[in-house]
Amino acid sequence: MSISLTRYLVEQQRAKGLIPSELRLLLEVVARACKSISHAVNKGALGSELGDVMGSAGSENVQGEVQKKLDIIANDVLIEANEWGGHLAAMASEEMDSIHVVPNRYPQGEYLLMFDPLDGSSNIEVNVSIGTIFSVLKKVDPSKGVSEEDFLQPGTQQVAAGYCVYGPQTTLVLTVGDGVAMFTLDREQGSFVLTQENVKVPADTKEFAINMSNMRHWDEPVKRYIDECLQGEEGPRGKNFNMRWIASMVADVHRILTRGGVFMYPWDKREPSKAGKLRLMYEANPMSWLIEQAGGAATDGRQRILNIQPTQLHQRVSVVLGSKNEVDRVTSYHTQK
Ligand code: AHG
Ligand code: MN
Ligand code: MN
Repeated sequence: MSISLTRYLVEQQRAKGLIPSELRLLLEVVARACKSISHAVNKGALGSELGDVMGSAGSENVQGEVQKKLDIIANDVLIEANEWGGHLAAMASEEMDSIHVVPNRYPQGEYLLMFDPLDGSSNIEVNVSIGTIFSVLKKVDPSKGVSEEDFLQPGTQQVAAGYCVYGPQTTLVLTVGDGVAMFTLDREQGSFVLTQENVKVPADTKEFAINMSNMRHWDEPVKRYIDECLQGEEGPRGKNFNMRWIASMVADVHRILTRGGVFMYPWDKREPSKAGKLRLMYEANPMSWLIEQAGGAATDGRQRILNIQPTQLHQRVSVVLGSKNEVDRVTSYHTQK
């Protein structure tokens, strides 16, 4: 018998008291939005009722990145789906300069939702997996109005996190702090069905993911780690490594949750003043929590990502995550004198 996302959430709530009703509603609404984004992604050049999803929107986001039409469609879908339910106080997104407070005409809840509406936008036209990443926090002081400051909580404070990958299958991956579960979208039924529970990332791996074209810009510890992997059986690691780089963090992390590996997007010398390329609040934090919940590790090369106290909504961070022993090794290369 198959277990739907709804049933999974109800049972988690009943058995473990992990999911208050409001949070359950929130997660179901996010899943519904992901279904609708998945539909638009699938239509591709045919266009869906949400519009033409291919190509550039001719605009830039707050980080100076060119927005694709699908970045904006996915952002709008998530906002529209979530703003009226009464479960949220506000939302923040990679594609919006500042937070979106739930309008006065709707009741305001206590939760805060952050998302990267469309991760891997460079892969839209080439028909390679892309996804949506999300993270949920709770307002610290429910008696006060909501502001950007409410979002500036470390990743350890997340109450739910996940992503939906739009690939050969559409898969929703979720944690509420009790391990990681995967749900596959059954298009005939129109529902997400539980297909894997207690996801585990093996502690060891022979696979790494990094954009090798940036090698000359890396810091010494990253160069050392990759160089040792590349030396294979003859080198200090004594084994051959394989490499994968999809250029969609969702797809790379999904592979790691499925069969292990280490993913790195480290700080580099191209833009030395930026801590990294990936964003802490809606990319690194949710992915780090999922990886930790599956027994892996996630650091910025020096410290646990989830412990970082954010100072800005769109702050960037260096990312090393995946199989624990490899992440520990990369981290030790950064911290040892
Ligand atoms: P986004 O499409 O949300 O801007 O994120 C893309 C990110 C991430 O998904 C991926 O790992 C990385 O950028 C790829 O960067 P490079 O093109 O520099 O390899
Ligand atoms: Mn992204
Ligand atoms: Mn994005």
